[in-house]
Amino acid sequence: MSNNFTIINNKLHIGNILAEQLVQEFGSPLYVYDASIIKQRFTDLTSSILYPKTIFHYACKANSNLEIIRLLKAQGAHIETVSPREVEIAFHVGYKPEEIVFTCSNLSYDELAWLIGNDVLVNLDSLTQLRRWGEIKSGSSVSLRINQGIGAGHHEHTITGGIQSKFGIDREQVQEAQKIAKQYDLQIRGLHQHIGSGILDERIFLLAMEKLLETAMQFPDLEYLDFGGGFGVRYHKDEQALEIASLGKKITKLLNAFMKSYGKELVVRFEPGRFFVAESGVLLTTVVEVKRNPHKTFVGINAGMNQLMRQAMYGAYQEIVHAGSVKGEEEQVSVVGNICESADFFAREQLLPTFSEGDVLAILDSGAYGYSMSSNYNARSQPAEILVDGDSARLIRKEYVV
Ligand code: LLP
Repeated sequence: MSNNFTIINNKLHIGNILAEQLVQEFGSPLYVYDASIIKQRFTDLTSSILYPKTIFHYACKANSNLEIIRLLKAQGAHIETVSPREVEIAFHVGYKPEEIVFTCSNLSYDELAWLIGNDVLVNLDSLTQLRRWGEIKSGSSVSLRINQGIGAGHHEHTITGGIQSKFGIDREQVQEAQKIAKQYDLQIRGLHQHIGSGILDERIFLLAMEKLLETAMQFPDLEYLDFGGGFGVRYHKDEQALEIASLGKKITKLLNAFMKSYGKELVVRFEPGRFFVAESGVLLTTVVEVKRNPHKTFVGINAGMNQLMRQAMYGAYQEIVHAGSVKGEEEQVSVVGNICESADFFAREQLLPTFSEGDVLAILDSGAYGYSMSSNYNARSQPAEILVDGDSARLIRKEYVV
């Protein structure tokens, strides 16, 4: 199983705490995050990219719990946002405007005006946004999100580059963007791209970086380049994890070489979300029914796709563990939730430990895009969240009941 959590006496522990004890104390379903894993992942990534002017903006859409954002802020992360409310959250936890980047497609005029009024750095996603910016604040600096025609991701829904994608200004419209900028006396100071999420092939990441660097040569007055997020994590044991140390070295080399030919050391930004938080989280649930049909066995839990929707939405795999008996007899089962939808699956026909009513079933790697994508569908609650740090566990958000 995933080596992020400890197994002692065949039982799952988060930090030094028994998973079953957390359920006893706080109930289930329950999101639990291990602070030490977040800190470790932050160090893994930030210590691997050694270009000196690099800033890491945590993409808080991955997990916008205030305590998780604070934890990453304390490590030195800046923040990436995609809605005015996320910007307000960033201000609330103490970020200054210059530590926030914002990128969003289909922004309303009023939203853009609000962002400009709050001095937030926006990566403009379209020619319309650029024109509106010019109308609101001519004579200022802007940044453009470019779609270079390259996309990647763990599922087609998470690919954000290429001609099928709604995101960014198409590379063929770069000159038009420059014309609009001139018309409003705007200086293009930044270029941004984000090609997708859940990337495990470093080659595509590096290739996309090279493309943006090529484009950057057409912009003589840049101050920064933003390469987005997308660093994948290994959800399945058969997947090849990103070798972050070696990728970091390659990125550093690429950036150093580019800055030499550009003639100036630009600020470089990355916007990782998943990489920092995914592996720190686990969704603890309780088995409420085991339905042994003539041809199939369904392990029914007290959580649903409203509380963790990655499996239903992307067919995503996240490892399932029997928290009270990690290694034991196994059988072929499907793990299903309590929502009135046929997509409400957490595992399809997998060999898993034999579960009985009352057992604690843990869904690993739920720290990113778990709670943050949850809803109250079927008038079910959004689970409580707990932060574990070594021996201590504290509630960082109460269960939200509609
Ligand atoms: N920057 C921008 C502009 C983004 O759109 C995203 C993610 C990120 C940064 C952070 O990407 P990351 O480092 O986390 O890959 N719900 C999906 C993932 C959607 C990602 C959306 N944008 C999932 O559960 O796999």
